[in-house]
Amino acid sequence: MTVAVYPGSFDPVTLGHMDIIERTAHMMDHVIVGVLKNNSKTPLFSLEERVKMLEDIVAYLGNVEVRSFDGLLVDFVHQCNANVVVRGLRAITDFEYELQMAQTNRVMAPDIDTIFLTTNLSYSYLSSTTVKEIAFFHGPLEAFLHPSVAEQVRKRVEEIQGKDTH
Ligand code: PNS
Repeated sequence: MTVAVYPGSFDPVTLGHMDIIERTAHMMDHVIVGVLKNNSKTPLFSLEERVKMLEDIVAYLGNVEVRSFDGLLVDFVHQCNANVVVRGLRAITDFEYELQMAQTNRVMAPDIDTIFLTTNLSYSYLSSTTVKEIAFFHGPLEAFLHPSVAEQVRKRVEEIQGKDTH
């Protein structure tokens, strides 16, 4: 049985991430989306919110589950009894960082392989950071996010901007 972990910050999950999750689900027996509790960044959404958002939109895929993790990715992958890590590659600029991460993980855990899926061309420009910037300037989000995620991003931005004016 091939179990894959697709790790990330998912703040928020984009249609680019969804494309990778869907394609991985078709290739693997089981997929675990690992949501990193990232202390070094101040996320727009809490860990619980990011997990819930993902759970809601991957529910239609029977072999995908969502879990959170803290600490080293390789430890989480072992805990999940998984053997593969999946990452999306949007452009050559992603490659150096991704290669470094995959090689480091392989030294720490030689039993775990990282595989890369090239992002669908329609999403090759897309990142959570860009989407957040668009949201803060009240731009359209529907081309980048699942409708339920877009709604939650808009609401969160309104809350933050509302607070700033008081
Ligand atoms: O969506 P992101 O932020 O690009 O995902 C990065 C992620 C979560 C895959 C990476 O930061 C990670 O694996 N963090 C866990 C800590 C770890 O294992 N670090 C060593 C890897 S070289």
